[in-house]
Amino acid sequence: MLHFNNAGAALPPNVVLETVIGHLEREATIGGYEAAAEATERLEAVYVSLAALIGAEPSQMAVVENATRAWDMAVYGYPFVAGDRVLTCRAEYVSNVIALLQLEKRFGIEVVLIEDDEHGQIDLAHLETELAHGAAMVALTHVPTSGGLINPAAAVGALCEKYDVFYVLDACQSAGQVPLDVGTLRCDVLSATGRKYLRGPRGTGFLYAGPRALALIEPPFLDLHAAKWTGERTYEIRPDARRFENWETNFAGKLGLGAAVDYALELGIEPTSDRLIELGRSLRQQLDATDGVSTHDKGITRGGIVTFAVDGVGSEDVQARLSAQQINTSTSTAGQARFDLPHRDLPTLVRASVHYYNTEDEIDRFVAAIAGVR
Ligand SMILES: Cc1ncc(COP(=O)(O)O)c(C=O)c1O
Repeated sequence: MLHFNNAGAALPPNVVLETVIGHLEREATIGGYEAAAEATERLEAVYVSLAALIGAEPSQMAVVENATRAWDMAVYGYPFVAGDRVLTCRAEYVSNVIALLQLEKRFGIEVVLIEDDEHGQIDLAHLETELAHGAAMVALTHVPTSGGLINPAAAVGALCEKYDVFYVLDACQSAGQVPLDVGTLRCDVLSATGRKYLRGPRGTGFLYAGPRALALIEPPFLDLHAAKWTGERTYEIRPDARRFENWETNFAGKLGLGAAVDYALELGIEPTSDRLIELGRSLRQQLDATDGVSTHDKGITRGGIVTFAVDGVGSEDVQARLSAQQINTSTSTAGQARFDLPHRDLPTLVRASVHYYNTEDEIDRFVAAIAGVR
């Protein structure tokens, strides 16, 4: 098998698998509550690991079931008033855009699209013009689901700071793919998932909520974990980021996420990032050199996600033919990227996403398979 669908879900290392299975076995042996109690210290350590991954404090981290819910908990909880402007980008993730459009309908906020610059990344000059007109929030996707672009998230953070605007960063595809530091990014909120470039289990994600987020945002849902029932008619929301969590959760998945982050930190995000970026570059270059194949990734800095089209063969067809050869890829469709692909007059693209464990040899095999498809 050749796994070039790391932007879908990467392959977890053994330590993640063993951690998850190990905890499930303890649950089956001694009971779920008892297994969680036994793992208290290791569960606490997950927050320390996540915080270390992005340069935050453990109290600023929440573990939730995926990146979308993490993002939702912050954005749906933001105290919007009618007329608030939310600035977003062409790369914004489909679920985030749907949520913003619902908030537009529900609360009368205005969703403003910031254009791309000539490189295809968010146009910082346009962003600054709109920030100067006033905005409540900037919502940026760091690395889109549908391409190799790495948006200049720290430069966006510097502008948000200058205009004192709340900054929500979707780091779902960038977590594990490139180094992240909330001090440098200057975001108020950061959301990410476990299963992609972090190589964690499915059904895991996390949220960073900085000081301003914790001061401003009440979660849209509260339960007995997020708040205390202090009197018959009163409750008190917990002060830390765990207010965004549920009481009931996937403990095995949470431990597995911690193991994945520890593993990533042990290897070092910088060297693994350099390697996967180089593999992405090499794949892009070889595909572009193949007759009838064109790549369509944007931006000055590009990562491990490579999108391309093959002349005369539909992308779904390409994916199916690759799959028949045990080559895993995905597709990027207009329905996932309405601000982007139709805007560039692009059809559905094939998405091949590499990780640091892929090899040059695999890239050669992949390019030969594409030439065969053609
Ligand atoms: C950029 C981006 N944001 C958010 C998500 C949603 O992540 P999840 O499926 O964990 O909710 C994805 C998933 O593909 C994504 O690519």
